[in-house]
Amino acid sequence: MQLLDGKYVSEKLKEEIAAEAAGVLATLGRKPHLVAILVGNDGGSETYVASKMRNCEKVGFKSSLFRYDDSVTENELLEKIDEINKDSGVDGLIVQLPLPKHIDPEKVTERIDYRKDVDGFHPVNLGRMMRNLPCFIPATPYGIMMILEEYKIETAGKNCVVIGRSNIVGSPMSILMARNAYPGNCTVTLTHSRTQNLKEIVLQADIIIAAIGKKNFVTADMVKPGAVIIDVGINRETSEKTKSGYKLYGDVDFENVAPKSSWITPVPGGVGLMTIVGLLKNTLASARGNIY
Ligand code: GUN
Repeated sequence: MQLLDGKYVSEKLKEEIAAEAAGVLATLGRKPHLVAILVGNDGGSETYVASKMRNCEKVGFKSSLFRYDDSVTENELLEKIDEINKDSGVDGLIVQLPLPKHIDPEKVTERIDYRKDVDGFHPVNLGRMMRNLPCFIPATPYGIMMILEEYKIETAGKNCVVIGRSNIVGSPMSILMARNAYPGNCTVTLTHSRTQNLKEIVLQADIIIAAIGKKNFVTADMVKPGAVIIDVGINRETSEKTKSGYKLYGDVDFENVAPKSSWITPVPGGVGLMTIVGLLKNTLASARGNIY
């Protein structure tokens, strides 16, 4: 078993991004600029957004955060998005999900100018991704592609089983792994809550991508010896033993699965750190005018 080390890869790529951000500053006379909107006080979202902002500063981007109370109306939010869309000093805009129930996430996603949609959630970007055209790729799948590439993991002709069909990870990941590209060219099976014989299907996988959001969901009896394991889970549980007051668990029973695998991402220290790199790469590409 060898680790797919998200810490190592993310630090390396962030150094490259920082060098390129300095180039943007030299040519445009301003830093790449990411704007985030955060609604409410969800603990996970607070942590993720803070980390996104911190990482922007680290690589020499400008970052701005607009916070709203849970009671913000859908209209107020849409108007703010319109305002940021028009601001030529902004390269990327993300609205952290989930949103309160009275706000339609589809409306919000479609309102963001697709040319600033560095989350890659807008239908234009998803459609372009399906057709292998220049686009913003959703940050977590993008981060996973980068870690597979860094470790030169063979993907062509392999059976890849994706567990979970979310808009943010599972669905786009299944499309990327099936594309005629590297990483890609896999035979992909997208599994979900209604899948029958899940264990038998996962046992066929050369590459398992677990994005179901359930602690220790993938157990050793579901894994073929030598499989590559990508664990997207970030399941937070409160803990008195850690400084932060919580502990993170993946979707994979790491202790028992790791010895059977050829390569595996740890949690923490794996995919989570790569998601940020995906977001930074998209923001940089936007600032440089590489996509639109
Ligand atoms: N919530 C969980 N993951 C993400 C993400 O990648 N982007 C946004 N905007 N919200 C999220």
